Amino acid sequence: PKQQTLAVIKPDALEKHKEMILEEIHGRGFSVTRLKETVLSREMAEEFYKDHRDKPFFSQLVEFMSRGPCMMLVLTKENAVEEWRAMMGPTDPDQAMVTSPNSMRARFASNILHNSVHGSSNEQHAEEKICLIFGDICTDSELTVD
Ligand code: CMP
Repeated sequence: PKQQTLAVIKPDALEKHKEMILEEIHGRGFSVTRLKETVLSREMAEEFYKDHRDKPFFSQLVEFMSRGPCMMLVLTKENAVEEWRAMMGPTDPDQAMVTSPNSMRARFASNILHNSVHGSSNEQHAEEKICLIFGDICTDSELTVD
């Protein structure tokens, strides 16, 4: 059965690597079923990462994620959650360069905070974040791709 996941190209990577990342996503057979570029408000970034609110890096993370445009994508494919996570590689690019040199983070991330891409960790998170980003409370103009 097809599965959906939410992928985010973060502000650091969107500036430099947008076309390459989109090419790879299509090349691996994902369908991009929703797509939009948006600048998250601080409040949206806090809500998006609420599970991390007690972490020491939370305020840096919110600052970074709201500093410029992100690209938000709903990726649809069999096993999409796990496949996109495998494609991203480990959170920390130093680790990614060792274990998965072809991954997005090995190639495009500068450090553990500025790590280029995000992906939902499971199906329930995917559904919740897709709703948060693409649901009615979000009034940004939005492009439906196919
Ligand atoms: P992401 O997969 O989007 O989920 C949480 C984010 O927090 C992570 O990517 C990084 O951007 C950031 N993050 C995780 N761990 C750390 C850390 N130790 N220091 C700074 N930022 C981190």
